[in-house]
Amino acid sequence: MSQVSTDAAGRTFLLTTPATSYALHIDADDTPRHLHWGPRLTLRQAAGLTAHDGRTSSFASTAGDELAVEGGARFGVPSLLVRYADGTRGVEWAYEGHRIDGGRLDLRLRDRHYPLEITLGYAVHDDADVIERTVTLRHSGAAGDAPVEVLRCDAACWSVPAPAARRLSHTVGEWSGETQLRRTPAPYAETVFTSRRGVSSHHANPWLMVDAGDADETHGEVWSTVLAWSGSWRITAARDHAGGPCTVTGGPGHEGLSWRLQPGETWRTPVFAGLFSAAGFGGTSRAWHAYTAAHVLPHPGEERPVVYNGWEVAGWNVTEAGQRALAARAADLGAELFVMDDGWFGRRTSDAAGLGDWHPNPERFPAGLGPLADEVRRLGMRFGLWVEPEMTNPDSDLYRAHPDWVLHMPHRRRTELRNQLVLNFARPDVAEWAYEWLDRLVAGHRVDFLKWDMNRAFTEAGWPGHPDAERLWDGHTRGVYAVVDRLRRAHPGLRIEGCAGGGGRADLGMLARTDQTWISDNTDAVDRLAIQHGYSQVYPARTMSAWVTDSPNPQTGRTVPLRFRFHVAMAGALGIGGDLTRWSAAELAEARELVALYKTVRPVVQFGAQHRLPDAVQYTAGDRVVVIAWGAERELRLAGLDPAARYADEDTGSVHDGARLTSHGLPLGLPKGDLPSTLVRLVRR
Ligand code: GLA
Repeated sequence: MSQVSTDAAGRTFLLTTPATSYALHIDADDTPRHLHWGPRLTLRQAAGLTAHDGRTSSFASTAGDELAVEGGARFGVPSLLVRYADGTRGVEWAYEGHRIDGGRLDLRLRDRHYPLEITLGYAVHDDADVIERTVTLRHSGAAGDAPVEVLRCDAACWSVPAPAARRLSHTVGEWSGETQLRRTPAPYAETVFTSRRGVSSHHANPWLMVDAGDADETHGEVWSTVLAWSGSWRITAARDHAGGPCTVTGGPGHEGLSWRLQPGETWRTPVFAGLFSAAGFGGTSRAWHAYTAAHVLPHPGEERPVVYNGWEVAGWNVTEAGQRALAARAADLGAELFVMDDGWFGRRTSDAAGLGDWHPNPERFPAGLGPLADEVRRLGMRFGLWVEPEMTNPDSDLYRAHPDWVLHMPHRRRTELRNQLVLNFARPDVAEWAYEWLDRLVAGHRVDFLKWDMNRAFTEAGWPGHPDAERLWDGHTRGVYAVVDRLRRAHPGLRIEGCAGGGGRADLGMLARTDQTWISDNTDAVDRLAIQHGYSQVYPARTMSAWVTDSPNPQTGRTVPLRFRFHVAMAGALGIGGDLTRWSAAELAEARELVALYKTVRPVVQFGAQHRLPDAVQYTAGDRVVVIAWGAERELRLAGLDPAARYADEDTGSVHDGARLTSHGLPLGLPKGDLPSTLVRLVRR
């Protein structure tokens, strides 16, 4: 049971989750101070921990604030930076009181003098050790009062005990090489993880883990934080040489932006969630997977379909005949959803034109999309389409009609990336336009699935004529969320895949309103191993779209056996993206078998607990265990099994003792040759 409790004075608070505790205290000067985040403590034990000793000095550590502000003797990273109309900056805390509602705690604070209310929000759930935090700002002045300028407002500042904060884990990446896991010694300094691109980005994913340097997949204490936000963001880790805790403060936006909170206005950050686990990185990931399923995804319990997508085959050369031919082969292999990617609309025969003109290309689809959609359904599959609603090509009817709808600044070039510009979704008229055509498209063709793409970063991010233009950085993301949410409400059967040039916007903000993520444009199964490994640190397998494409891989040129390609893609939500019209009969037959095999293990892979093993990944759900292995290991020690139970191999019939599988390993019998791989299905007897 998770719960929130407080002492008689209402100044010490304890959040209790199934395995952890989090405690904080309101100091004598009304500053909210951190007490504890880690293994379980009682309220009495937590209250006995000393918060700040009250002495200030120019030289001592000042870490340990629940939300670091400017003001007084504070010299660390501020989580909240504000400026009032008279030039005064920062916050002097005044505590107003608290509200506890089930697993929610709101601490109501304000500035001692200026009209700014600041609510620190906490929420815990019965089935997770994740603590969700937000900050809400409210301008409490009257109409006509001056606004408050906001230069930074993070959602939370997390404190990790100093001795435990020696190493940082995070991901780096690039287009086609996203989510590369890195573990680095924590510098005695401020380390900034950020995206200034308007999307969460290929280059860094908005999460950070801290440990003492001794955690591994199965053991050790890990403090992890994940920001549920899809726009620009920033997480700053500060390791304190003077003995204070390591602080991890994070929220939406990047440095240098500012905007004004108007009288009467309330603004809330997205969630910056934290999790303490004593079960190593594997336990940490499983806890995030379970939390994402229970509290983030719209339809966690639904099996993700086997997708066919012809992007790598046709590119922009989409024809109805070509799509029909692919659809027939895809259905024959067992695909359940056929997605037509880019190139079906407007004058979209290359990346140079057409974005914004969302009607079927009349030369390619003279009778509209109906006949293809009908054919796809006749073949027993659902029908999906690629869209990129936030974009326009200058060579489009939309842009010719509304050149002011894109992000731009007076006297500045409109930098084109992939020949396209970003539509400002913070504008209500743009968001309304997008909703209308999406609604019409989905309703008109009974579209079951959208791949929602976003292929470029923001540049010249201005909003001429708007009195507070930098709000667009926040407003664009919220505008996208609102359109997606409204579309889903209007079409409850619609499913959505998030995509941004591959994995440029893979985050819990998007996962709260999408069903899966296209995590990379790189479909080379060997490259994919590292990308999937990084993605799995936080995000669950059921959301990880993975296609089997051609060999040699069209992008990397690497030759990879069909089985290996399948096995790697079967570790997530399997899809197929190869040119099936050129696969041999033998390849098609093998693929058909592997798709059928995937369907038998799908509930275990998509809903099971995931253990990352050396050159392998294991999924366990109830009595069933699925192991996908590659590399050279001969015996693989499995995880999380009942040592007293026996496990039967569903394919060979051999029976193994749980204890032996965990201590000595499962004999893999990997075939010889290049890139061997195997999939083993075990069932507990
Ligand atoms: C992006 C996506 C690809 C594909 C193309 C289409 O790069 O990541 O999968 O949809 O756009 O232009």
